[in-house]
Parts: sequence; structure tokens; C-alpha cells
Amino acid sequence: MAVAPASALQQLLAAERERFLAEHPRSAQLAAQAREHLLMGVPMPWMVRWAGGVPLFLDQAQGSRVVDADGREYVDVALGDTGAMTGHSPAPVTAAIAARRGITTMMPTEDAIAVAGELARRFGVPAWQFTLSATDANRFALRMCRQIQRRPKVLMFQWCYHGSVDESVAALDDQGVVRPKPGNVGPPVDVALTTRLAEFNDLDAVRRELAHEDVACVLAEPALTNVGMVLPEDGFLGGLEEACRETGTLLIYDETHTISAGPGGCVAAWGLAPDLVTLGKALGAGVPTGAYGVSAAVRDRILADDEGDYFDWGGVGGTLAGNALSLAAARATLEHVLTPQAFAHMETACTRYREGVEAAFARHGLPWSIVQLGARAEFHFTPEPPRTGGAAHAAIDPLLDDVLHVALLNRGVLLTPFHNMALFGPSTTTDDVDAVLAALDEALGLVAAG
Ligand SMILES: Cc1ncc(COP(=O)(O)O)c(C=O)c1O
Repeated sequence: MAVAPASALQQLLAAERERFLAEHPRSAQLAAQAREHLLMGVPMPWMVRWAGGVPLFLDQAQGSRVVDADGREYVDVALGDTGAMTGHSPAPVTAAIAARRGITTMMPTEDAIAVAGELARRFGVPAWQFTLSATDANRFALRMCRQIQRRPKVLMFQWCYHGSVDESVAALDDQGVVRPKPGNVGPPVDVALTTRLAEFNDLDAVRRELAHEDVACVLAEPALTNVGMVLPEDGFLGGLEEACRETGTLLIYDETHTISAGPGGCVAAWGLAPDLVTLGKALGAGVPTGAYGVSAAVRDRILADDEGDYFDWGGVGGTLAGNALSLAAARATLEHVLTPQAFAHMETACTRYREGVEAAFARHGLPWSIVQLGARAEFHFTPEPPRTGGAAHAAIDPLLDDVLHVALLNRGVLLTPFHNMALFGPSTTTDDVDAVLAALDEALGLVAAG
């Protein structure tokens, strides 16, 4: 058996969408209303991409569950694409938010010291700064690297995603030339001036690009997580670190998603040695917070740099960055929610899911694979997990994605939109995992050729 033909999938999609629309009159009504004053009918354009045909409007979310505007409840394994990896509205964080007097004041708080200390302990780099998003953490980390390195470029990996960072909206074309990613909205400069790209797991390509010695830093996830999930092959990250050292290039690990590997992300789980670490999203349980940390050597170089204006006009900053509310949320998250015990539970839940998905693929004769990184797992429509971003990108099938996602919504499961990623939080129960597996089993039965 294999996957049903495209014509059958189209019919299936139409039928599942019809059911979705019939069962979501309130979301449909709100979607119509929203078109009046929301550009594109949503607060952010990507929200139009929900597979049901209209965006699913939220009523409330708590723990591992979400309730939509029509009063329908879902087991949520999207968890806000990691922003709610803590589970929705965890009690220690909502209590810290309620207790906070003063939201933003231009003054540091004791919470900032506690959060920086805990991040230093977890990720092994000693000096931290805060932003409102992972995107900004990456942007400021890149600026600081270029500033102290006096080099213009950054190396990233093909089909990586690090937020809306200008340098990263780039992709290699068929000839291996750096181009704007298709649809790059108003690029400020030609990305070829700012960016070099290599395929993940291709050390030769990394060495070739770094040999130009014009790269200030590599910005990488320890595992690619935004184009399916591509794990590093044995020796790749060690080779990357070595190539950086040999060419005087700094190495930034973006742990925004890969923190799923454990309390200190892949850096701690795999004993990695970056010069900088960036993260965001789950750090404040979804309260806007990002952070970047630097090694002692990088800290000393920044402190010795008397040309960069880090305080005023220099391009690094943000009025609300490091605000009291975000840091109270981050402190509560680190001290009481994303604890080592929580990670152990999350990984166990994810392993149960991964094994269940493997069994379901076998049962339905679907030649697909699934990859796990701690608390997150993602399946691919390929027999073996892709080993590069290029291969993962080529394996994306928007029609299959849409059918599976809307079929799962109709069966009470929220899988991460535009991905086949499932993430498990501290409040996800065994029953939740089994409910997801049961819904997925039905959905797979629909798309498998009979
Ligand atoms: C690895 C990684 N870094 C950074 C970001 C940007 O996060 P945000 O959009 O919260 O700034 C993302 C978003 O998905 C991400 O996946």
C-alpha cells in the first residue's frame, strides 16, 4: 500500500473542509468580520494558513488543551510552535504575572539577574542580554559578531529559519548561488552581500564557505527544525566547531526550538561549545521574551570595543526589551515549569508518540519516517529522514499536509500548522498522547491507498 493518488486526496480535502466549516460557524463568522480592519483578515499573515479554509479562532487554552471559538476542544501538540512548550498558561507563570507590580519601567529587576544566572548555568555561556523575541536575539547576536569580527557575512544552512532576520531570508538556487528566498518581502540589500549558505550535514560545503574568511559567524540550529526536522550526523557539529575555530569564525547556536532536547537544549545535552546562544518563545511561557548569551571571550571583546554604540543609536536595543513582566515570566518558567523533571516527562510522552506513529505508518503501509528530538517529533513523507535542508524541503507535500491537518482538526487534534511537528509539554498526559495517536491513525487510514 502507499499514499492515495492526488485526485483522491483533493476529494478528501474538500470533504474534510466541508465538515470543518459546518462544525465551525463561529470561526467562519469571525473570519468574515476580521476582514474589515485586519490586513489579510488576521493579526499576522501566516494565520491564514490554517488548513480548514478559515482561521481557527481561539477562545482559551490551558495546559495541553485548546478551546476554539465554537467551543470545540483539542489536544494541542502545536503548543504555539514552541511558545507554549510549557503547556498553556502554567500556574507559576500566571501567578508571577499577576503578582508583578510595574510592567515596564526602564529599570532592571532582580529577576533579570536570576534568569541570566540560570541560563548561564544551563547553556554554559556566562553573559546574557534580553530581547522581546528570538528574532531580535538573533539580530543582535549577528550585529555584535559582525562588529567585533570586522567581517561582513554570516553563514547559515539551506532552508534554515531563524525568524524574520534579513540575512536569513535567503536560499541557494539550483546552481548553488545565494538568492533571496522565493517571496522575500522587500529585502533591504542583496542577500548575497550578507549571507553564505551551506547544506546542513555537509562539512565540505561549510569549510569551502568559511575559507573565504569574510564570515563573522555561523548562525545554526544544532538540528534544523523548521523544514521538517534534520538531525546532525555523527561528527557534523564537531566538524563545524573545528572549521569555525580554524577560520576565526564565531558560532551561534539558536536553541529556540532545540531546547526540546532538555533544560539546556542541545548545547547541554550534546556537550556543544558555541560562542553565543540564542533563544526565545518558551522562555517566558509565551510572554514575549528572547535572550542571547555570549562566551567569556566574546563578552571581553564586546566590552573592549570602543567603536560600537551599544547604548543608543548603534542598532542594538528595544524599549521593552528586558521589561519586568517578561523577566518575571521567564524566571517562573525556568524555576518552576521547564525543570529537569518536566523535560523527563515531556520526552517520555514524545517517545510514546513517536513509537505509536511508527507503528501506525507500518499498519497503513505508508513509507514514511519520524524524527524525535527530546520533547518534539516530526514526520516526513520519505522512507528515511532527510539528511539535508534541501532534501527535507523537497519532501514537503502541501496537499498531504493540508489533508492530514484538517482531518486531525476534525478529530480534535491540533498538529503544528505548516509542519508535521508534535510537541509535548509538562501537562501533556498519556491519555492526550493516545488521543493524538487515535486521531492520526484515522487520518492515515484516509490518505493510505486502500
Ligand atoms: C529556530 C528559530 N529561531 C528563531 C525564531 C523566531 O522566533 P520569533 O518569531 O518568536 O521571533 C524561530 C521561529 O519559529 C525559530 O524557529
